[in-house]
Amino acid sequence: MKSMRKEDEVRKGYFGTFGGSYVSEQLQPRLDELEAAFVSAMEDDLFAEEFARLLKEYVGRPSALTYCANISREYGGGRLFLKREDLNHTGAHKINNTIGQALLAKRMGKKELIAETGAGMHGTATATVAALMGMGCTIYMGEVDVHRQAPNVSRMKALGAEVVSVTHGQKTLKEAVDAALEAYVLNPETFYLLGSAVGPHPFPTMVRQFQSVIGKEAREQFLEREGKLPDQVLACVGGGSNAIGIFSSFLDDREVGIVGVEPAGRGLGTNEHAATLMKGNPGIIHGFRTYVLTDENGEPSPVYSISAGLDYPGVGPEHAFLMESGRVSYVSVTDDEAVDAFRVLCRLEGIIPALESSHAVAQALKILPELSRDKTVLVNLSGRGDKDLDSVLPLMGL
Ligand SMILES: Cc1ncc(COP(=O)(O)O)c(C=O)c1O
Repeated sequence: MKSMRKEDEVRKGYFGTFGGSYVSEQLQPRLDELEAAFVSAMEDDLFAEEFARLLKEYVGRPSALTYCANISREYGGGRLFLKREDLNHTGAHKINNTIGQALLAKRMGKKELIAETGAGMHGTATATVAALMGMGCTIYMGEVDVHRQAPNVSRMKALGAEVVSVTHGQKTLKEAVDAALEAYVLNPETFYLLGSAVGPHPFPTMVRQFQSVIGKEAREQFLEREGKLPDQVLACVGGGSNAIGIFSSFLDDREVGIVGVEPAGRGLGTNEHAATLMKGNPGIIHGFRTYVLTDENGEPSPVYSISAGLDYPGVGPEHAFLMESGRVSYVSVTDDEAVDAFRVLCRLEGIIPALESSHAVAQALKILPELSRDKTVLVNLSGRGDKDLDSVLPLMGL
């Protein structure tokens, strides 16, 4: 009995051999405190009610399930459906997690939120909940991303957040996480509102929990509309939060194929991609064990994607486990394919997708022609693409 308890403790926060908490002795007690608050919140019906109320009344959930008749006609084969996280308040799935974590911060008596952001959608969602709940907010963002996702920097500022431009290293998402973690360690009064299913325990479990609403709704909506489950479920994978959010409701349905789409940037044959699961190796980054893209010295290597939300050299630990277990397949899509899918969704369906989400749409466009008419593909459209227009219009010749 005793040894079983010990084993449980050791395995806590692990997905197979991935996950865990590899942080300093200084930081661990704060993560323990966070975990205890999360566990008690999960047992509290009032917390669940408040979370559900805000998702409905503030975020606008449930988000729609949209059948793409035009794309299905042109590319099918199979039929395409989208789970419309782009229709949420602030325009992406990120708001689900920020509402959950901000409620937790409030429960813990914290008044200062800090967060990292790549595409700026998580930064905007964090600034939004900070305003809603009367908290201070500081967002760390790589200098490169400050420029390429400028509309979101304006939104964060309008909402009252301080945006700190991170100027070291590659000046993108990894460095933003470095800076946010450093600020979190230095200031015990802050609550680190992590934006993806990454980081040390309990973050991946917590983020999955708050994003699982996507999968729960999508499963129910799909069954109601089609009378059966989708044949394939697709999502883009940066850190992996929108993907694990929708996948979580289909993992036990063996007949449903599940596919995560990584950014192949300028091609997997170059050094300019961020396809961590496809090209990385097991290692430790930002306090957890997962697949990591590393250089010859074993350090996280420079990564690249046209998409600011996907260029991270690590990935959520549950995805590493799901790949090794064989339950989920991981593929990759290049910048060019993502931009092409962006154009197709704009022109055929009247929906402007985030570049991140366009990666998942691109994979759907590849497989639809191979499928028969009775087969269905469900893509998680994780966000809207207004923020990307400045970068994409020149690539569309406009
Ligand atoms: C719209 C959108 N989709 C996807 C992502 C990737 O994050 P994740 O893999 O955690 O869903 C981001 C990250 O910024 C995003 O803004």
